[in-house]
Amino acid sequence: MRKKLIIIIILAGMVALAMPVANLFVPLPASRLAAIDTDDPLLADALVVLEKKCVHCHTSEVQLPWYGRFPVARQIVEHDIVEGMKHADYIRDFFPETPGPVSEVALAKIEYVVEQSSMPPPPYLLMHWNHFLTRSDKDALMAWVHNERITHHATPGNPAEVMRRGLQPLPELADEDPAIVALGDALFHDVRLSADDTISCASCHGLDMGGTDQVQFSIGVDGAVGDINAPTVFNSGFQFMQFWDGRAADLEEQADGPVTNPVEMASNWDEVTEKLQEDEAFTEAFLAVYPDGYTKENFVDAIAAFERTLITPSPFDDFLKGDASALTEEEQAGYHLFQDLSCATCHTGVILGGKSFELMGLRADYFGDRGNIIEADYGRYNVTEDEYDRFRLKVPTLRNIALTFPYMHDGTIETLEEAVEVMMTYQVGKPITPADTEAIVAFLHSLTGSFRGERLQ
Ligand code: HEC
Ligand code: HEC
Ligand code: HEC
Repeated sequence: MRKKLIIIIILAGMVALAMPVANLFVPLPASRLAAIDTDDPLLADALVVLEKKCVHCHTSEVQLPWYGRFPVARQIVEHDIVEGMKHADYIRDFFPETPGPVSEVALAKIEYVVEQSSMPPPPYLLMHWNHFLTRSDKDALMAWVHNERITHHATPGNPAEVMRRGLQPLPELADEDPAIVALGDALFHDVRLSADDTISCASCHGLDMGGTDQVQFSIGVDGAVGDINAPTVFNSGFQFMQFWDGRAADLEEQADGPVTNPVEMASNWDEVTEKLQEDEAFTEAFLAVYPDGYTKENFVDAIAAFERTLITPSPFDDFLKGDASALTEEEQAGYHLFQDLSCATCHTGVILGGKSFELMGLRADYFGDRGNIIEADYGRYNVTEDEYDRFRLKVPTLRNIALTFPYMHDGTIETLEEAVEVMMTYQVGKPITPADTEAIVAFLHSLTGSFRGERLQ
């Protein structure tokens, strides 16, 4: 009797061990990362780790391993891939639509999970004993992340220990022609860009209102109301694309939008040209800079140049550059929470955002809870029609966030405290104490900057 029991226990043990032991010897199917040919030794080392220990749950391209085709295992593996893909897709990251370096957000996310030792997920490691990130794996990933930042993303002119970080100080000046900027400034504030001479860009992007209109939805010509919250124009030159859904590649392309948008300025450049031609002084100033006169290209060139000068350095920049006294203790505590709670993975780079599209509702169903879903909520999907992009919105900048209320693309959140709580619930998936919320809000206030030497308010 006892002998039988022992044999049964041994057999059961062998069955339980069969999978993890087999996994020690059977390699997972290769992904496209394995085929990347590089002469950068740091990238080569990082790719080995990502290929062996990460990519299988962070792409839809790779075939399931042999055991992944059994019923229960299949559900677990597929669930991991569906969830993992919401956060990161390493095929998209390494083979972006427009070829270029791996994004700052992808780098910040890798750094975060390495620091937290949170990936691969612990249940998976029970079955894959040799997929832990070793010390040398972590070193390889971090060395590559730091080098990528210094080479491609960092604000130049700072020491390497500043340049290798995810959050970067703003450069102080934009290299733009002052005569062009002055024209752009004038056009930005000119109501003649609208059909009935009532609305200028500044009506919805007031430079005295944090670069926004501080209402849920903007009001255009004839009282037309939009369906998405106006983002700030301050520091917009640092965004990787323009609009919540990225439908404009840059500021030039963006500036064409509002003039012809029926719920904004409801006009067109021909009409604008006719009106401006009657203004001799302005026409003369314009011709001095643009000898070919009024054209759409020249209009958007000037407006975009002006917008690129809308840079607002803040106490946080002094802090980043090494002046610890620039932030109060509470602000510094908030800054550490901002990093520890993963806020700085999506809100990264020089403007703490503006570098990627992310799923709104990663950890809980934001749109289900809010209700009344409209097309504008679909975000990036409206441009790509790729199901992966549904509900992905461009991460907004947090610079001057204390002034750019109400919050979120739908403008439904009134206060910064609530905005932090919404992020914790829907993007981070952890509870937060009121004291920690206050500390983060204090930190966010340190992002209110100065424009032309004057602190915004
Ligand atoms: C077994 C599948 C699996 C493997 C292997 C795996 N991940 Fe994940 N990953 C997930 C899942 C599931 C989630 C979402 C749930 C969670 O955060 O636990 C996730 C989340 C993430 C996130 C977002 C985490 C956050 O807190 O914001 C990042 C970044 C990430 N993974 C990177 C990696 C990297 C880098 C590796 C390799 C070192 C890796 N993953 C390996 C399944 C996996
Ligand atoms: C009637 C209000 C209104 C007017 C007028 C207006 N905008 Fe906007 N602006 C918005 C809204 C709303 C959005 C967001 C739209 C979206 O993302 O779909 C936006 C987006 C932008 C963005 C993109 C910012 C980002 O974070 O993606 C820039 C830049 C911008 N506007 C500049 C301008 C310029 C330049 C003008 C004048 C030519 C102008 N706007 C006129 C309301 C307005
Ligand atoms: C996974 C990516 C991600 C993470 C992590 C994240 N955010 Fe966000 N954040 C976003 C996106 C996307 C939006 C825009 C959502 C929308 O408009 O519906 C946003 C919006 C915001 C806004 C409102 C901005 C505005 O102009 O309306 C604030 C404030 C904010 N986040 C702060 C935080 C803080 C604080 C944390 C950490 C507790 C955090 N975020 C974590 C992606 C993220």
